[in-house]
Amino acid sequence: MIQKNNVQTPHFSKTSSCGGASVAADKPVTILGIESSCDDTSAAVIRNGVMLSNIVANQNVHAKYGGVVPELASRAHQQNIIPVVHEALKAAQVDKSDLDAVAFTRGPGLLGSLLVGTSFAKGFAQALGIPLVDVNHLQAHVLAHFISEGKPDERKPGFPFLCLLASGGNSQIIHVRSHSDMEVIGQTIDDAAGEAFDKCAKVMGLPYPGGPHVDRLAKEGNPAAFRLNKPQIAGYDYSFSGLKTSFLYLLRDRIKENPDFVEENLKDLCASLQSTIIDVLMQKLKKAADDLNIKQIALAGGVSANSALRQAFHDYGENYGWEIYIPPFAFTTDNAAMIAMTGYFKYLRGEFCPLTEAPFARTSNVL
Ligand code: KG4
Repeated sequence: MIQKNNVQTPHFSKTSSCGGASVAADKPVTILGIESSCDDTSAAVIRNGVMLSNIVANQNVHAKYGGVVPELASRAHQQNIIPVVHEALKAAQVDKSDLDAVAFTRGPGLLGSLLVGTSFAKGFAQALGIPLVDVNHLQAHVLAHFISEGKPDERKPGFPFLCLLASGGNSQIIHVRSHSDMEVIGQTIDDAAGEAFDKCAKVMGLPYPGGPHVDRLAKEGNPAAFRLNKPQIAGYDYSFSGLKTSFLYLLRDRIKENPDFVEENLKDLCASLQSTIIDVLMQKLKKAADDLNIKQIALAGGVSANSALRQAFHDYGENYGWEIYIPPFAFTTDNAAMIAMTGYFKYLRGEFCPLTEAPFARTSNVL
């Protein structure tokens, strides 16, 4: 399914200087972004930091397997990439010849999926004779906070800030010192938060991805109905595999006594699971914010769609004087607008990528 997310062509202001740009101040900079790190094929056009289009093709093929199948993902990317790029240019009312650079997700992610976007970006940039910009997917999730939709009242975090990145593949606390200087100060040592939602949802018989279903059902459940194990991990790191196992054992033991246990307690189970995951995420974030004395706190990644996590952000903001930043939903899940935005910042700094660079599956702590 292709989703459109484009805004009206804005009035272009002069390019802002961002760390030593070698770009003419009056020339608009137009970047095509390409994202293919997991199971969403996406292309977007950004001009001077303002999003003109953001097209995402979701891959429904994985739902029946209960998780992303890497080989199917890369095949679907191959089918989607050309129509998605075409649609992004059309929605932005931009011709190929207007592009100044092509930005692409180089990693981390599934290698087969990344190869499709990387190869397309290289070929496209070379054919047009324009620079190629490689983008770290995690850095892009953070910089999604800087995408402009051309609205007057947009808020952007100031530096330094902390960003909680919670998605299907990542749970990290990132210390963001500038657009180009970020450090992962805490991360999961096993499962990601989204994975914990999805795996526990699966054992309750909910469809994949389970996070949104748990969120919906939890609204009518009692979060204190069941006590689940909270991990005790040093520093700012997370762990969700113990929680997942304790949830599995709870279900196994109770189903022995009552085969209808899950159906009869589904809402309470979802509420208890969700509140435990959110407590774990927020407690570490609070510790990091206190230790570093940072009050600008941002949220990113697919799990940020969770209504209780959003509420927790608002509550912590009120209780602890945090200025919180939660981006629009379209910029929290995997999308190419954040890739184009990150590419824009790198373009202004003159950071380009040779055609010989290969994608990477894993990343280091310094983004
Ligand atoms: O960032 P994202 O789109 O891509 C991956 O990293 O895969 O995140 C997807 C994750 C999935 O685990 C999904 O279950 C979770 O985000 N998610 C949610 C909600 N919406 C999406 N988790 C909890 N509550 C939600 N409302």
